[in-house]
Amino acid sequence: MLVLGIETSCDETAAAVVERRGDGTARIVADTVLSQIDEHAAFGGVVPEIAARAHVEALDGIVATAMRDAGLRFADIDAVAATAGPGLIGGLIVGLTTARAIALAAGKPLVAVNHLEGHALTARLTDGVAFPYLLLLVSGGHTQFLAVEGVGRYHRLGTTIDDALGEAFDKAAKLLGLPHPGGPAIELAAKRGDAARFALPRPVIDRPGADFSFSGLKTALRLAAEAIAPLSDTDVDDLAASFQAAVVDVVANRAAHAIAAFADMHPGARNLVVAGGVAANQALRASLATEAGSHGFRLVAPPLRLCSDNAAMIAWAGAERLALGLTDDAGMAARPRWPLDPDSAPMIGGGMKGAKA
Ligand code: KG4
Ligand code: ZN
Repeated sequence: MLVLGIETSCDETAAAVVERRGDGTARIVADTVLSQIDEHAAFGGVVPEIAARAHVEALDGIVATAMRDAGLRFADIDAVAATAGPGLIGGLIVGLTTARAIALAAGKPLVAVNHLEGHALTARLTDGVAFPYLLLLVSGGHTQFLAVEGVGRYHRLGTTIDDALGEAFDKAAKLLGLPHPGGPAIELAAKRGDAARFALPRPVIDRPGADFSFSGLKTALRLAAEAIAPLSDTDVDDLAASFQAAVVDVVANRAAHAIAAFADMHPGARNLVVAGGVAANQALRASLATEAGSHGFRLVAPPLRLCSDNAAMIAWAGAERLALGLTDDAGMAARPRWPLDPDSAPMIGGGMKGAKA
């Protein structure tokens, strides 16, 4: 089964072709990503209108490149999948409309994919992980623990009550004068810095459950920076290292609680999967691996390229849905908000202030 996937929910224009074999194994046949980072750099964040226009300009060429790399014509594929939400509405409309046009013209089914489901199922594309598993989804717009029980079957075990983790990294970077996106910039600075120099708080660490909060940490970072301004390069490195160390401690603590809750629900299941752009962070991965190991769990982390936004994960989620006969009609509308677990009430703020809100 060959599926063309299209991703345009934020600042990456991406197209990919993924093959799903009868036994459920996968192969990425082609995978093209064009990042708009340079177009947004001057604004310190993603500008929705600029993003939508850039998707319009780039998408046809990106799809053509993916098809050429795959050596396929539209007639050869079995379905077209596109991100239908959540994300920036302009970009979503561009991607979904393009997918719909290709599907109609080629007489193929359309699969409207939830971007978060793309991240959630990536570990099945890369590692063939079986259901159920515990997922930590950490991106620019979302920070959640989910019990992944099947395609379309998610149960939220914890979420953020204010900022998403990627958003916290991005805001911290902005405050320290580091470039956007902030996560990789903070990680790089943190490698040079002294994490013990600033005693930043570990919010929620003494609370039960697996919810997150990052706004107090962000304020503490700002106060620490203001107290020693103007900042030298060393100050920036030390602040970045101290910030990242606090984040890593909080996530490890929350992971321990989420693992306990998940183990009660699914005794015998032993995989902790991390996904989303923040999953690229090596310090976070190392700490999650240790935490998982101490509870008898294995950490599964996709390769860096498949952690940040890409179309292979959308094509794969489309293939998983197609295999279950889950296709969508051409009238399917883009949705700026689309929770994976609709039964969980949004928290106050809900971590929905980032670019992916
Ligand atoms: O999944 P993603 O590419 O887009 C969304 O769906 O949001 O995630 C982007 C987020 C950004 O906030 C970025 O700063 C963060 O992931 N990020 C990182 C790292 N690489 C990307 N955060 C921490 N460390 C990194 N190495
Ligand atoms: Zn994403």
